[in-house]
Amino acid sequence: MNTLPATMYSVVLNHGGYSGTALEPTIKDASDWLSEAELPVPSPGPGQVLIRLRAASVNPSDMHFIKGEYGQPRVKGAPAGFEGCGDVVATGAGAETLQDQRVAFVAAGSGAWAEYVVTQGQMCIPLRPDISDEDGASQIVNPLTAMAMVDLARNDGDAFVISAANSQLGKLMCSLGRDLGLSPIALVRRPETVQPLKELGAVEVLVTSDPKIKDHFASISTNMKPRVFLDAVADQLSEQLFCAMPNGARWVIYGKLSSEMPQLTQSGQMIFMSKRIEGFWLTRWMMSTPPAEQMRVVAEVQARFADGRWKTDVSERLRLSEVVPNLASALKKSDGKVIITP
Ligand SMILES: NC(=O)c1ccc[n+]([C@@H]2O[C@H](COP(=O)([O-])OP(=O)(O)OC[C@H]3O[C@@H](n4cnc5c(N)ncnc54)[C@H](OP(=O)(O)O)[C@@H]3O)[C@@H](O)[C@H]2O)c1
Repeated sequence: MNTLPATMYSVVLNHGGYSGTALEPTIKDASDWLSEAELPVPSPGPGQVLIRLRAASVNPSDMHFIKGEYGQPRVKGAPAGFEGCGDVVATGAGAETLQDQRVAFVAAGSGAWAEYVVTQGQMCIPLRPDISDEDGASQIVNPLTAMAMVDLARNDGDAFVISAANSQLGKLMCSLGRDLGLSPIALVRRPETVQPLKELGAVEVLVTSDPKIKDHFASISTNMKPRVFLDAVADQLSEQLFCAMPNGARWVIYGKLSSEMPQLTQSGQMIFMSKRIEGFWLTRWMMSTPPAEQMRVVAEVQARFADGRWKTDVSERLRLSEVVPNLASALKKSDGKVIITP
């Protein structure tokens, strides 16, 4: 610890607890939610590690969290940011094997948008040397979710539906689906993303603003019989498309990119057609999946990034000192992650 500075530059939360809202993961001005602060460099406790940040990614979950609408409460004044990669520079008892390793991590002690981060050793994945820092900074949340949800879908047939398919996660799932011989049906909101998604592996791509989308979807659904709808939008159109899916279909809601709350319009769908509405949260998957299976999935994720089957599209790079003034405008760019470096 001797060579470590006493304090670190951090981007911290302006508010604590929950806000009680459930809006979109968009912000007008990051200073409504975040501030700059010089904080003491934290010390790792038992089972924890201290990481010097190399790069952090900005996910929609970070936006929901800073706004107080994620599945865990905010701590006012603590650094924001869930995911990144960096070098382990100090360890607590029981985490010594991670000392000096470059790891991908999920922050579970203090947030990732700071020069140093404390998290549990169990929330770190040592990175192969052939994985870049930017891929390393987006190595856990979306890739593990993609692996887990496509696995869930393939147990119910070949075809499955992906909304917001041009998201980073949507793209990972389209190409993984193709590689596994499955038939992803993609929903997007921008027509210019149709062709790139077909090239990535989507068998059908529908644009949600198409006035005939319900008819088009119904005929695709009759032909391809998708039984799983992986949905990060969860608006009224989602409900309508779910109603057009076959008997036994599952509507798996895993994100809230739209602020529109859908209403159920046909209870017979659940009673007579045995359809189900459920959720997916990676945190629960991690708690319920045996460690050996998680290690197999992590190895497959790293192999896919190392050989180029998967990559992280980067839309903007910000230094930590640029986050508060520039994050809102950086997030307006489509097609990629905002990556934060110290
Ligand atoms: N439950 C979990 O465990 C879990 C884990 C990981 C991710 N997620 C969720 O997965 C989703 C995607 O994450 P990501 O990191 O891949 O996102 P991302 O790369 O930041 O992309 C966001 C995408 O959402 C689209 N979008 C935004 N608002 C929309 C709306 N109102 N209707 C339709 N599309 C909209 C954008 O479309 P354009 O391309 O047209 O701009 C963009 O493609 C998020 O909801 C995230 O919270 C959940």
